[in-house]
Amino acid sequence: MNVSEMREDIDHILISEEELQKRVAELGAQISADYAGKCPLLVSVLRGSFIFMADLARQVQPFCQVDFMAVSSYGSGTVSSGQVNIVKDLTDSIEGKDVIVVEDILDSGNTLSYLFQLLKARNPASLKLCALLDKPSRRTKPITADYVGFEVPDKFVVGYGLDYDELYRNLPYIGVLKPRVYEK
Ligand code: IMP
Ligand code: MG
Repeated sequence: MNVSEMREDIDHILISEEELQKRVAELGAQISADYAGKCPLLVSVLRGSFIFMADLARQVQPFCQVDFMAVSSYGSGTVSSGQVNIVKDLTDSIEGKDVIVVEDILDSGNTLSYLFQLLKARNPASLKLCALLDKPSRRTKPITADYVGFEVPDKFVVGYGLDYDELYRNLPYIGVLKPRVYEK
């Protein structure tokens, strides 16, 4: 399957490459202003946020550090299983650090409310959430992001790091997946 074949599985483009770059630059500027004089630690939640993280980090002006963790909650379906597993933990301690968790999408909130509980217990100086996408209509846990790129409707989206069954992450835009792809 190549990129043009992938395009046939996309119902429509929700957020173009240009819109993504513009908004990520705005988020970077906002974070730079809020963390002026500090050295935030950007924590990317793999795998969905890897492209957003790479673009966002390059828009952050103060010194910053990066670390990565991986959690799984989805299996290969389109609805969160509710069960969160840590697949890869952070490399370094976050004690006393100004942590910004960088996530691809805030959906039910299951993954992040679990993650936030876990990270808070490690005593960071501060803990904030930056989510590229927010699907508030599906929220079942009381969690909000401090920085949000775009609010999206209740549709399954892929691209710019987000996957369906580990595919479509390399699309340069965010698109709505045709339901026939996951209904078959
Ligand atoms: P939550 O635990 O339901 O909030 O799910 C969060 C995770 O589910 C995200 O980090 C994504 O990996 C995945 N996810 C939720 N909605 C979508 C979507 O529309 N497309 C792709 N992945 C999604
Ligand atoms: Mg994810």
